[in-house]
Amino acid sequence: MTHTNTVRAPLDPQFFGDGPARDARFIVREVWAELENYPDGTPERDHEFLHRQMNEEMCVMENAARSLADFPDADWGVRKGLARQCADEARHTMNYHRLLVARNGHLGQYPITNFQFRILGRIDNLIGRLAVQNRSFEADGLDAATHARDEARAKGNHVLADMYDAQQADEVCHIRFANDYIKAELGRNPRVGMQIARALNQCAQAFAVIFAGGGVDVEKYGVAVEARLEAGFSAEEVAVAVRMSDERRTAVRARLGTA
Ligand SMILES: [Fe+2]
Ligand SMILES: [Fe+2]
Repeated sequence: MTHTNTVRAPLDPQFFGDGPARDARFIVREVWAELENYPDGTPERDHEFLHRQMNEEMCVMENAARSLADFPDADWGVRKGLARQCADEARHTMNYHRLLVARNGHLGQYPITNFQFRILGRIDNLIGRLAVQNRSFEADGLDAATHARDEARAKGNHVLADMYDAQQADEVCHIRFANDYIKAELGRNPRVGMQIARALNQCAQAFAVIFAGGGVDVEKYGVAVEARLEAGFSAEEVAVAVRMSDERRTAVRARLGTA
């Protein structure tokens, strides 16, 4: 596959910081539509997903590492959570790399985007970063990993299912330490709720740019209720997530004509 370089306006620096370092093997794109988006259920899609997810995991690791460096005076508990997260996300990155190579793939085979890193780079406080990265991005990732584990298990692909199972357990911990920290901080000073709201709003605006050309029509899995409860979300929060997910999936099905 040949890759063409698309000339487009740079992303708005109000919502996007600089990208992470990537060596010359990688082709870095900015928005979802510029990636190689193969149809679901095709071998190309499954192969490309390993490369894409490997880079996503790397961005999450880099975000956790950057927060450790940027907030040296944060509580020891949350810093320990971030340090553990760095190690876990590095392992996830290597897991996807190993699977990619086992299928004769290689680094730089497909274009990548680093939007998670760039969005977090414009949030200047730890609680906002944790609300966006750990409590939002990773909660979505938890639903995806839970679904992928069950799907792989049902197909008899136990190597893949075991990898997702281990990853799911790690993601529960990453969300949980963020939930614990956010709840404790809100209890101490409810005004930090404004930082959370601002960060989530900023993220929503950035997402609208990244996914303007598609990429949000996911309807094959819903909320992993049990895992989210284990990750420290309250029953009410999970109920809201389920309702929003169901409404979104119904709308996607109606749009795609698969209802
Ligand atoms: Fe991960
Ligand atoms: Fe994680």
